Parts: sequence; structure tokens; C-alpha cells
Amino acid sequence: MELLEAIHGRRSIRMFDGQPIDHELIEEILDSATYAPSRMNTQPWHFHVVTGEARKNVGEVIAMTTSYLEEYIDVLGPDAVEHAARFYADLGAAPVIIGVASFIEEDCNVARDYAVSVGAAVQNVLLAAYAKGVSGCSISSPHWVRDRLSAAFGVKEGWEIISLVLLGYGVEEPHERERHTDVVTYLT
Ligand SMILES: Cc1cc2nc3c(=O)[nH]c(=O)nc-3n(C[C@H](O)[C@H](O)[C@H](O)COP(=O)(O)O)c2cc1C
Repeated sequence: MELLEAIHGRRSIRMFDGQPIDHELIEEILDSATYAPSRMNTQPWHFHVVTGEARKNVGEVIAMTTSYLEEYIDVLGPDAVEHAARFYADLGAAPVIIGVASFIEEDCNVARDYAVSVGAAVQNVLLAAYAKGVSGCSISSPHWVRDRLSAAFGVKEGWEIISLVLLGYGVEEPHERERHTDVVTYLT
């Protein structure tokens, strides 16, 4: 698949058929992540891939966040909160959940660069998956259950999960999302 075709065609998919993804394919997709640019080539990422029983454990921790979503009721409204609660309950039956960990960093300037680096790696994962016929969605790591999530993913000391990626074979039509066009300033 052409790179630009993948960039324009990829959409977040949040409902999956639950069928597993071959291990070799997951490895191939994650290999693409490691080619992302990173601050001073620190490659500040580690991918905790959970499937099977481990995915069930992680899913149960993430499902706990449904009880905290009321916090967003003023911003999102009751329907969206209910929808989000249903989604977090089983993460759309995604067979693969990836906890993307980065270094815990006190210096906010460095932490920002790490987050940008991880974002580039996550985009590589989503694009490589899309090119291979696998759907996915990047979602926020629920901060309410941070410690339990770290334990469920087996995150090492000095690292924290900063992003989650769901992968699977999609069973929903992607939503077309309106793109902002007024996002560039040219100076000459
Ligand atoms: C950092 C980040 C956090 C996100 N968090 C969530 C989330 O918690 N739940 C969700 O359903 N989608 C989440 N998304 C997906 C966005 O909603 C989605 O990318 C956006 O609406 C644009 O749609 P598209 O990916 O189909 O182009 C997140 C995306 C990013 C990059």
C-alpha cells in the first residue's frame, strides 16, 4: 500500500470481531514502531502486548474506569458518557491490547519530547496495521487506574504506560472525521 494512501485511509476502529491476530503479524507491525524518530534517539518506548488471559486481566482493570467517567458528563453529555462506558467495558472485543510505556520523566520539556516520540511510534503501529489489513485505535491510558494497569501489564520500575493501542479485525464502518484546514501558517 502507498504511504499516502495509508495516511489518508487509516481511521480509528473501535469494534472488532474478536478473532486473534497471528503473532508474526503483530511482530511485523511492532517492528515498524521502532523506526519512529525519537528525542536524541532515546527510543523511549516499550510495547506491552497482551492477548488471551493477560488481555482479560488488563481488560478488567480498564473496565474499572467506567465508574469514573461521570467526571466528563459536563463536557461530553450523558449519551457520550454512556457510550464511552460501554466501550471501556470490553474495548470493542479487541483481541490485542498494547500498553505503550515510556520513561517516567520529571523534566516536563524532556517528557514532552518522549510523548512526541511515542506518538510517532504509535502512528507507525496504526499505519503498519492498516497496511496489513488490521484495524486499530489509539486510546488514552486511563489515569484513574494507573498503578493497577502498570501491574497488569508488568511494567518495569521507572516506566509508565502513557498510551494504549487496540488492534483487531474491525466490524464497523469507519467514521469520516472532519479535518481542520486552518492549521498552517507560512512565513517567508
Ligand atoms: C492521544 C490520543 C488519545 C485518544 N484517546 C481516545 C480514547 O480515549 N477513546 C477513543 O475512543 N478514541 C481515542 N482516540 C482516538 C481519536 O478519537 C481519533 O483519532 C480521532 O477522533 C480522529 O479519528 P481517526 O483516528 O479516525 O482519524 C485517541 C487518539 C489519540 C491520538
